[in-house]
Amino acid sequence: MITGALQVAAGGQPLLLTRRGQQRRRVFRPPQAVASDAAAAATANEEGGKVALGGSGVAVTKLGVGAWSWGDTTYWNEFQWDDRKLKAAKGAFDASIDCGITFFDTAEVYGAGISGAINSESLLGRFIKERQQKEQVDVAIATKFAALPWRFGRGSVICALKASLDRLGVSSVELYQLHWPGIWGNEDYLDGLGDAVEQGLVKAVGVSNYSEKRLRDAYQRLKKRGIPLASNQVNYSLIYRNPEENGVKAACDELGVTLIAYSPIAQGALTGKYTPENPPKGPRGRIYTPEFLTKLQPLINRIKEIGESYGRTSTQVVLNWLVCQGNVVPIPGAKNAEQAREFAGALGWSLTADEVEELRSMARQVKPVIGFPVEKL
Ligand SMILES: NC(=O)c1ccc[n+]([C@@H]2O[C@H](COP(=O)([O-])OP(=O)(O)OC[C@H]3O[C@@H](n4cnc5c(N)ncnc54)[C@H](OP(=O)(O)O)[C@@H]3O)[C@@H](O)[C@H]2O)c1
Repeated sequence: MITGALQVAAGGQPLLLTRRGQQRRRVFRPPQAVASDAAAAATANEEGGKVALGGSGVAVTKLGVGAWSWGDTTYWNEFQWDDRKLKAAKGAFDASIDCGITFFDTAEVYGAGISGAINSESLLGRFIKERQQKEQVDVAIATKFAALPWRFGRGSVICALKASLDRLGVSSVELYQLHWPGIWGNEDYLDGLGDAVEQGLVKAVGVSNYSEKRLRDAYQRLKKRGIPLASNQVNYSLIYRNPEENGVKAACDELGVTLIAYSPIAQGALTGKYTPENPPKGPRGRIYTPEFLTKLQPLINRIKEIGESYGRTSTQVVLNWLVCQGNVVPIPGAKNAEQAREFAGALGWSLTADEVEELRSMARQVKPVIGFPVEKL
């Protein structure tokens, strides 16, 4: 699957910040747990509808909302951004907050540098500020460092992070992630992440698109500084189960690293709204072709049937399936309020173990789509 990163590169205790206009610089305190039993700590921390990100002590809602499409003109939005889409994205943000979903994922490269695009971080920052003018909201922001080939040294991480904080209009974020592995190596970037924690610029640090080996190396390097690796954000859905097959999910569970699942509804393909007769338009149409959607249909039908038995939509079933895997926080992308509201209904109930396995077994009949090549670096 082509992802935003690729497109744009060519293109405690709940420690959530109370974001009220004025920002507080926070003092570095050693994170809570680095030990291999951090998984148990994360489970124990699960309370009040939130879950700890690995051993970091940062708690987020069990589902977050992805903001890649906000302002983007490279992959989403028919290559055009306008006021109507802006209002819809703001609606998605507000509806998420109204439904109690307060974890948002963005990246410096989302909506960056392309004509007509608006940076997703700037939009998220604006939405937070506008909401805070009405009431106090506790929002957890995750953003990402683009490991571009011309970025060298640990200082490049701090430099990029400060620019992100500027666009977001905050003095720190809850989670800072390396968006994809660096082609020249990752040690400097990981040291930069550690510096960011120690400087109080971020509460927790994570990686994204990291293989099992890279994940273990990153975990060990940060552990030497007493900093837990909080998360690995990877492509994971019912029809893209690579993390189950390549050792990433098992390593996350073993190390107590939260797996943040991106493209969890397969970019809309698992919602049931796209059919062989009505495939998605634009770049997604090259991935979710009529032929692919035809093979997907039996699974889509069963998802719908199971959803009906719970009074839930297909979207809610496939997101619940991910939550049922344990140690997984899905971050579906919402373009409008209706989509965001639907996500909230993925929580607060559970598929049975039999249903989880039945869906996995049906999904095995569908040949997976191509993933982001950097996963294999
Ligand atoms: N780390 C990485 O490399 C990476 C890569 C990709 C994504 N991500 C993150 O993960 C987030 C989510 O991934 P994603 O956006 O690729 O895919 P996704 O969450 O699987 O799909 C999002 C798309 O599905 C459609 N949709 C959403 N809710 C729906 C609903 N209730 N009913 C029907 N259709 C619905 C929308 O598009 P339409 O309405 O146009 O169909 C929406 O843009 C991103 O926003 C980003 O934060 C990270």
